[in-house]
Amino acid sequence: MSDPRANPMDRRTVLGAALAGSALAALGGPSCSATPSPAGESAATSTPAHSIIMAHELPPLPYSNDALAPHISANTIGFHYGKHHKAYVDNLNGLLKDAPDLAALSLDALIPKIAGDASKAGMFNNAAQVWNHTFYWKSMSPKGGGQPTGKLLDLIGSSFGGFDKFKDAFATAGKTQFGSGWAWLVLDGGKLTVEKTANADTPMARGKKCLLTMDVWEHAYYLDFQNRRPDYITTFLDKLVNWEFAAANLG
Ligand code: FE2
Repeated sequence: MSDPRANPMDRRTVLGAALAGSALAALGGPSCSATPSPAGESAATSTPAHSIIMAHELPPLPYSNDALAPHISANTIGFHYGKHHKAYVDNLNGLLKDAPDLAALSLDALIPKIAGDASKAGMFNNAAQVWNHTFYWKSMSPKGGGQPTGKLLDLIGSSFGGFDKFKDAFATAGKTQFGSGWAWLVLDGGKLTVEKTANADTPMARGKKCLLTMDVWEHAYYLDFQNRRPDYITTFLDKLVNWEFAAANLG
């Protein structure tokens, strides 16, 4: 059984659509039996009259729209989750209608597979933004802030030289990301590191284990903080960061 925290976008719905035989094989399971093949003709060589693709769903927020107020308002969450995150899901599903082999994949499989492929840049951007946002909502909590404990605190200490040095590194990553992007706490080779990525890019595309993320696109903070990105970052670290989620990801 996969860990749902590591696979934040496994929620799928089944839609009727044409699907190539190769994708049917990738899907597997009882749902494939819904597509009949003419007698004496294998599924790999036939063109099904109708079939299925898996559509990604907007996962539910782990809290209500106003749960992070007064730090992040219900208005911000309403637009950020209800408009921006949803649009990435809708865009991705639209792009996958023409790529049934890729539509059969989970986000965790799809994103690394198409990363760096210029012909799939639009699909990558939308898929990664779906994954990143789902991970971001879980990286915050109405009871967030403070410090981690135990194994995670020890690893932060050995990796950064202390919790305050981690906070400085994470805040600097967020402040210095030019334009839109993300700041990350990542486990890489047994050591924790801070990374910043531009636009939709995500460390998981390169096989790294993400523990936390902070969205520094303007849509994440502009309604509440206007141009004061540093104040949003301080608020994220002092009031919102979900150390229980990070510790669970560390395992
Ligand atoms: Fe965002």
